[in-house]
This record gives sequence, C-alpha cells and structure tokens, in this order.
Amino acid sequence: ANPSLLILPGDGIGPEVMAQVTRIIDWFGEKRDLAFDVEHDLVGGAAYDKHGTPLHDDTMARALEVDAVLLGAVGGPKYDDLDFSVKPERGLLRLRKEMDLFSNLRPAQCFDALADFSSLKKDIVAGLDIMIVRELTSGVYFGEPRGIFEEGNERVGINTQRYTESEIERVARSAFELARRRGNKVCSMEKANVMESGILWREVTQRVRDAEYPDVELSHMYADNGAMQLVRAPKQFDVIVTDNLFGDILSDCAAMLTGSLGMLPSASLGAPNADGRPKALYEPVHGSAPDIAGQGKANPIACILSFAMALRYSFDQGEEAARLEKAVEQALADGARTPDLMGPEGGTPITTEEMGNAILKALDAS
Ligand code: NAI
Ligand code: MG
Repeated sequence: ANPSLLILPGDGIGPEVMAQVTRIIDWFGEKRDLAFDVEHDLVGGAAYDKHGTPLHDDTMARALEVDAVLLGAVGGPKYDDLDFSVKPERGLLRLRKEMDLFSNLRPAQCFDALADFSSLKKDIVAGLDIMIVRELTSGVYFGEPRGIFEEGNERVGINTQRYTESEIERVARSAFELARRRGNKVCSMEKANVMESGILWREVTQRVRDAEYPDVELSHMYADNGAMQLVRAPKQFDVIVTDNLFGDILSDCAAMLTGSLGMLPSASLGAPNADGRPKALYEPVHGSAPDIAGQGKANPIACILSFAMALRYSFDQGEEAARLEKAVEQALADGARTPDLMGPEGGTPITTEEMGNAILKALDAS
C-alpha cells in the first residue's frame, strides 16, 4: 500500500500554500513513482463552519491512523469572538494532545540566495542547517504546583519545572534518531549548574546515548551559553535537544538566523505507531496571515519544506527530501521571490502559484 497522508489546509493562507504542496505531491507520484494516499479534511475555522467544532471526531480518528498529517494554519478574525472551547486553535491543540506529540522539530536552514536576509553576517549563516528538538508536552509550562497564591501579605506566582526520566528518555531518543539521518551530532542544552531538572536531563541524555546510540556524538551545554553560541557561531551545531522552556526561546532565536516566517517548516513527533514510525504532524511555523489571505501573496515555501520534512522523517525518503529542498534553493537562486522575500533593493514579486511553478520547474530539471 502507498504511504498515507492526511492534509488539513485549515484557514486563511493555509489552503493557498497547501494547494502548491498538493501539486508537488502529485509531481512525486508522476515523476518519481512515489505515490501517496492523500486525504483532505477540515480543521480550525473551516471545520467549525461546517461541523460546529474545530476538529471533527472522524478527522481526529484518521489523524491517529495515517502515516503523517500535514497542516496549513488555523484561525482568523472571523473566529476571534468564538467561545474558547470551539476556537480554531483548539483543533490544533487537540491533534497535538491526542497524538501525544512530545518532540517538536524546528530546523533553521539558510538558503544561500537569502543569506542577506539574516540579521547576522552572511558568512555566519551561509549554508547553515541545524535542527532544534524541543520537548513539547512537559516541563515548566505544565508542572504542578502552579498558580498565584497568597503568601503572608503578598501574592506569589509559582510554576514548577518537572521532568521524569521517561519524558527525558523519549525526547532524547527522538533527537538521536534524527541525528543519525543528519550529521550524527547532538548537543543537549539545560542548566545543570543551577537546576535539579537540568542535572537529571544531563544524566539521562548521556545514559540513553551510551546505551543505545554510541555512534552518535553527544555534548552538553548550558542553555544560556547555547543562546550565545547560536548567534555567535550557529554552524557548530547539528541537532540541539532541549526542554520545553529553553526550546521555546532557543527555537525563536534560531528562526531569526534565517529570515522570513514564510520559510520556516516544523514537525512534531509522538510515540511510535504499530509499524514503529512515530506519529507525526508537519506544519509551517507561520499562522493563517489574514492580512494577506486571498491575495496570492503567501509564500508557500514553509509548507513545502514541511512536506520535505515528512518525506525525510516519516517516509524514509531522505534523497527525495533533499531533491525538493534543492529545488526550493534553485528557485530562490533563479530569483523567485514572493513579497515577503523582497529585499530593500526591490524588484517584482511573484504570486504563491508562481512560486509553486518555479519550484516545479526546478524539480523537473533535477
Ligand atoms: P501569522 O504568522 O499568521 O502572520 C504574521 C505576519 O507574517 C503577517 O504579517 C503575515 O502576513 C506574515 N506571514 C505569515 N506567513 C506568511 C507566509 N507564508 N508568506 C508571507 N507572509 C507571511 O501570525 P499572526 O498574524 O499573529 O496570526 C494570524 C492568525 O493565525 C491568528 O488567528 C493566529 O491565532 C493564527 N496562528 C495560527 C498558527 C497555527 O495555525 N499554527 C500559528 C500562529 C498564529
Ligand atoms: Mg515561542
């Protein structure tokens, strides 16, 4: 049977960028004999409009069965006043929770043609290709006790940083598995100098590496130094694994190494399915961009690169993923620019569909 893919375009520019991904999926079926069983369904406001809920139970059930889910974006001003229980983002939160997506992958990849876009000097970022693995379902955002309490004659705000050994083990494994498909090198970041959870994090990541991944190089770094090193010399890293809080901050920092929000893909992985592959949701980092929706201005690259991640991490098609990434690089090198990629020197921007054309043309030539 063909690998299965559930496509949830969502709202705003979601369907616009996903339309270009669909053309690329068709290209792989026709030209590379790599066919997928693709299903389309609704999520977010689009699902609310039809079903009165941002994620129908049938859609949730399919998400748990397919090999990978590809999501566009959810939300928009039309839904801002809805009750919290049916808001578009609740659809996405339900997917993340029921698929138990504990490992969030955020690549920071710098295409040469866009190196001038970075906030950093060109030689620091040119050719950059790193991956931040952020633990997504535990840590200080979830730990108990939490709350604002009375203490004497004032209040105290409390959150608890809490990690079990098994929570650290599973995210560490997902980082080591990724490293084996990349540069075979992991840097783990915590604050073992001042936090008990950091001491445990360092011990457990090292233990998992020694017992199960002796072929992968592991180093440890304090997260504050890690933030500095990311900006000073990001190319020293391959895979970075870190907790929920540090990962939130470090991945936003790494995102700005490469420029536009319209370029950033992501993946979230969960526990293995029956066939041993992790449950997986792939989505661009950006939202539904209501300010440009319906105008053909959206950059489809973040969503296209999310599909490239699916090829590599869910379907074992690393070479085809690289083919697609090179086609994106080639289109950019040929000068294809949606409005978000226009530099101060100006030029004529192209539409979402024309960016799709440029990437398909580069694929044809590959
Ligand atoms: P946003 O990411 O939608 O947009 C931020 C800015 O970046 C806007 O100026 C937008 O035009 C631009 N932008 C985003 N993606 C782009 C693309 N592919 N090409 C060109 N330009 C792009 O974030 P914002 O404006 O804060 O949120 C808008 C809506 O999206 C809200 O309803 C929000 O809740 C939702 N949202 C959904 C997310 C998701 O589905 N994962 C993530 C973030 C926000
Ligand atoms: Mg953040």
